[in-house]
Amino acid sequence: MPHARVLGTGGHLPARITTNADLEKIVDTTDAWIVERTGIRQRHHVAEGELTSDLALKAAERALESAGIEAAELDLIIVATTTPDRVFPSTACILQAKLGVANGCPAFDVQAVCSGFVYALGVADSFIRTGQARTVLVVGAETLSRITDWTDRSNCILWGDGAGAMVLGAADAPGIMATHLHADGRYQDLLYVDGGVSLRKEGACYMRMSGNAVFKMAVNTLDAIVDETLAANGLAKEDIDWLVPHQANIRIIQATAKKLGLGMDRVVVTIDRHGNTSAASIPLAFDTAVRDGRIQRGELVLMEAFGGGFTWGSVLLRY
Ligand code: UT7
Repeated sequence: MPHARVLGTGGHLPARITTNADLEKIVDTTDAWIVERTGIRQRHHVAEGELTSDLALKAAERALESAGIEAAELDLIIVATTTPDRVFPSTACILQAKLGVANGCPAFDVQAVCSGFVYALGVADSFIRTGQARTVLVVGAETLSRITDWTDRSNCILWGDGAGAMVLGAADAPGIMATHLHADGRYQDLLYVDGGVSLRKEGACYMRMSGNAVFKMAVNTLDAIVDETLAANGLAKEDIDWLVPHQANIRIIQATAKKLGLGMDRVVVTIDRHGNTSAASIPLAFDTAVRDGRIQRGELVLMEAFGGGFTWGSVLLRY
């Protein structure tokens, strides 16, 4: 049975940077509070007219380049996003056209909020293992600034825009060793967008979060997914070389690192510069650490995420 191996990675952040000092001018907050409670110092935000698919395209082009793969060779495109360009067509179909891929390969979006990239890797892995695809582009891309309530100080300080991408190819050895995906829709009232297509509502739609309750659930749930992943794969904590966590809050990341007994020097942290970019945060962090030479071929990487739904999951990957 073929395995999904990472052939290349890419990332892209929009040019405009919003610092904590910028936010101090629009809501009642301070740089000190934001840094202490979240670890965030700045985040990137799209310009007027800049779309999720634009960010996805740039990240995808970088990933294809680093993989040495032509877009026409792709036989599956998956985009994880909560902020698609349109209700339809999917951002993956729009990306397919922007990449100039005209080979008829399937393209679709995955919507699992901050766990979106982990879910998308799970889907891609299944396609490759079952022989339905050999060369897959997986992108996490978001323009969360479009659904941010800039009057809600406990919320608007968190979110950033960006995109990360990975090209996976069929190989004789892993690659992706395991994915563990979960959801529990009973918690939807703790983190949601207050409008949508079917749920008609006048005016703009914004993210709403009971931050403290979500924080506690995230720490406990990520604790459990670490145990589940290690046990299911017969691994000890010491076997993990790198933790590439979803970047929601530095305190959540530190709690998971402590659970794994990993020093923060083995944890990829981008939240200080990127904020929380939802489905884009893990591929952006992974790409950052591959490009700066921290994550080396052959090392064992644990990715984990928790987000709206609730959804959560992990990916165990031999790079
Ligand atoms: O990625 C998807 C999953 N998302 C997460 O996992 C996010 C989870 N939640 C969090 O990261 C944190 O809960 C937040 C960063 C959102 C909030 O931090 P917190 O430590 O949980 O703060 P809190 O909501 O309990 O608020 C503590 C205090 C409150 O004041 P009082 O009631 O104690 O007087 C808030 O009004 O901090 C106040 N506060 C702020 N103060 C200054 C809330 N936001 C701000 C702010 N600046 N931006």
